[in-house]
Amino acid sequence: SLKALIGPSILNSDLSKLLEESQKLLDNGADYLHLDVMDGHFVPNLTFGHPIVKCLHNHIKDAFLETHMMVSKPEQWITPMADAGVNQYTFHIEPITNVEEVCRKIREHGMKAGVAIKPGTPVAEVEKYISVADMVLIMTVEPGFGGQKFMEEQMSKVQYLRKQYPLLNIEVDGGVGPSTIDCCANAGANMIVSGTAVIGAEDQAATINLLRNAVQR
Ligand code: DX5
Ligand code: ZN
Repeated sequence: SLKALIGPSILNSDLSKLLEESQKLLDNGADYLHLDVMDGHFVPNLTFGHPIVKCLHNHIKDAFLETHMMVSKPEQWITPMADAGVNQYTFHIEPITNVEEVCRKIREHGMKAGVAIKPGTPVAEVEKYISVADMVLIMTVEPGFGGQKFMEEQMSKVQYLRKQYPLLNIEVDGGVGPSTIDCCANAGANMIVSGTAVIGAEDQAATINLLRNAVQR
């Protein structure tokens, strides 16, 4: 059956302490880490790339690492990210036409393939690729920045997918925290990304637990 998994996003943490922040999240019960990679082109912001991910991986070998590739050329970073120790490579389908090929290449590199859509992209666009992917990410904010408001209307996409595909891993990302988790859980999401709500929490472990318990019922 489907597992509820919580993957905190370190985007809004103190990135000069990336390892400490990551270790703390894992110690506090994070199931995986969601690493937001931005290229300043697909989204109007920059973060970090495979050199930093590789350094992080070297210090936390057991952690499951997902990179959320908000980049215009997802194909370009598959090999370097696989070499960096990434477990799941989630990319946006919007800028490319060879999505199947990219998914195949990701899997050939030993990673799981995640396909992501922005709020303005219809769910049918991503549904086409479910047979070649391991997960679908439904964005609940415009990608580019942490700390934005959750877009509840995106839940119709999650509901639709959950109804058609009972065993599909469906991830939500953007504005997810204690006040919006029930919405995500009711719609059928099982992989939960949470940035500022977890990073800024007074009790990180309790917040991660609360999110997981809300989903796993
Ligand atoms: C947005 C990123 C998200 C985001 C999550 O572009 O993909 O992962 O930073 O952070 P919160 O939970 O603060 O929206
Ligand atoms: Zn993300």
